[in-house]
Amino acid sequence: MGVEIRVEGLRKSFGRQVIWEDVSFTIPAGEISALLGPSGTGKSVFLKNLVGLLRPDRGHVYVGGADVPRLRESDLYALRRQFGVLFQDGALFGSMNLYDNIAFPLREHTKKGEAEIRRIVLEKMEMVGLSGSERKLPGEISGGMKKRAGLARALVLDPEIILADEPDSGLDPVRTAYLNQLFVDLNTRLGATFLIVTHDIGTARVLPDNLGLLFRRGLVMFGPREMVLSSTHPAVNQFFNARRQGPIGMAEEKDLAEAAAEAVPQSMPAPIPPQLMPSDGGLRPAMRRPGEWLREHRVTPPPGSFIDDEGRNWLTDWDALAARRQRR
Ligand SMILES: Nc1ncnc2c1ncn2[C@@H]1O[C@H](COP(=O)(O)OP(=O)(O)OP(=O)(O)O)[C@@H](O)[C@H]1O
Ligand SMILES: [Mg+2]
Repeated sequence: MGVEIRVEGLRKSFGRQVIWEDVSFTIPAGEISALLGPSGTGKSVFLKNLVGLLRPDRGHVYVGGADVPRLRESDLYALRRQFGVLFQDGALFGSMNLYDNIAFPLREHTKKGEAEIRRIVLEKMEMVGLSGSERKLPGEISGGMKKRAGLARALVLDPEIILADEPDSGLDPVRTAYLNQLFVDLNTRLGATFLIVTHDIGTARVLPDNLGLLFRRGLVMFGPREMVLSSTHPAVNQFFNARRQGPIGMAEEKDLAEAAAEAVPQSMPAPIPPQLMPSDGGLRPAMRRPGEWLREHRVTPPPGSFIDDEGRNWLTDWDALAARRQRR
């Protein structure tokens, strides 16, 4: 279940502004991946390239045998049925109530009758915790509810791939925690491939199986959550630990001289928190992978931490850490 997305040598510019030069990586089938990066690094543009709403200058996006930038408009229509997309602004139709908004893709893309549409819409609304809000208009509900309505609409065609652009922006921490749990549970239930763009490092640290960072016109790193969170790469370390020191600046980016001048002694990555688990105790295929991956690549856990009994997560031994600090 779920479909892999393989991106090769992707370059995108708008006029003279180059967004990225050469992005290549594989988004594993059936796993949850998250893409992060400073504002303006082209995360939303990237998602639009995946579904063929924007075309790259060059490069490939392979989705189940098709190369998206080379598809004709008529084939793109079929391709998009495999995707459920939650756009950054939710993109709900203001004049339609939530029921009709969520039913829209079914009425547009399928020949299903109203009785079946009703069954599907109510099921998805229940999944995202919006039961009872069918008649509400987008203008009458909170930001969090809009996000969840957009997500329900992204789910109605039973997509193989779910793309969500900042589903957690503007949500309070508790709603964000619920939403993240919903993603884990949906992934367990549907087995679909998830790619989530987020600015929330709290989300990035506990939700995905894989993490990627866009910065300086390229993909700095993409890999298993444990690998990225324990990385000492200056930009990766700075971003995922929310530090001021490092190559990423207030403006789009610091100039290289400035970044070199404040080159800090390598700061230790924060401990890696345990990953969110399915709430029904179910299993996701990716849950086995990090442990296998760690062994295969003979990765050493960050100092002061160890791999838990299930071989899945790196936990920190605070006592060992404190002892080491004292010795210095
Ligand atoms: N259709 C377009 N035409 C011209 N420029 C565009 C277009 N879409 C995006 N851009 C530019 O591409 C850059 C990347 O935009 P994008 O929206 O992908 O950033 P982002 O990483 O999603 O940022 P944020 O985190 O703020 O959402 C921006 O400088 C933006 O102005
Ligand atoms: Mg964006």
